[in-house]
Amino acid sequence: MARARRPIAAGNWKMHLLRAEAEAYCRALADGLGAAPAGSRGPEVVLFPSFPLLPAVVAALAGTGVGAGAQDLHPEPSGAHTGDVSAAQILDAGARFVLAGHSERRRDHGESEELVAAKARAARAAGLVPVACVGETADERRRGETLEVLGRQLAPLPLEPPLVLAYEPVWAIGTGETATPAIAQEAHAHLRAALAERAGAELAAATRILYGGSVTPENAAELAAAPDVDGFLVGGASLDPQRFLAIIHVLGG
Ligand code: PGA
Repeated sequence: MARARRPIAAGNWKMHLLRAEAEAYCRALADGLGAAPAGSRGPEVVLFPSFPLLPAVVAALAGTGVGAGAQDLHPEPSGAHTGDVSAAQILDAGARFVLAGHSERRRDHGESEELVAAKARAARAAGLVPVACVGETADERRRGETLEVLGRQLAPLPLEPPLVLAYEPVWAIGTGETATPAIAQEAHAHLRAALAERAGAELAAATRILYGGSVTPENAAELAAAPDVDGFLVGGASLDPQRFLAIIHVLGG
């Protein structure tokens, strides 16, 4: 069955890799993609390296069709914010995407729903595609609060295109404890219904909702079969180009 939305295979490298490793990775990825069957449209593929790697990754990916994104941004367009990076600087470095509100940012830097939404707005204003991350903790799931948490995290986001959502249950990130396809589908369907209610059926139907949290080549196919899963935000398994390629192939690449 043809997919309604072009899937995305996103590799979140987090705070890993040095420049030479990143460049070698990009070469291996390009080689692997070059071997994909001709004529397949395939998923959109995007790498999210840390800031210092971004220019080298953009250069190494030139002509490959693979995009680049940053892992975070500051909500202000410029100013006295030592250590921060603006959306315009990210765009200027050649990236087209940016993560907003990854749970590790929420955890390590106390990012609030409002700050995450401001970051997503700043990304859009600069011409970047925000990939806004949402997801419940293990305690929230145990207490039966998952759908409520997702609604709360979605509420302040700018619900206009371009917008990509990533459902990343915190208990599944880096733990090896992947969500079941049923769990992912329930959350994704809930997010899409909330999008439809707040922003209309058209935006809901067009918005890609990625799943993230211990995605591997082994579990990607069953997750990708869930109708509202439009691709993956992959951490650990994206650090090995062959494993990431295997996930890309599951999505049709
Ligand atoms: P993981 O990370 O694939 O290593 O669980 C996913 C993410 O945090 O984006």
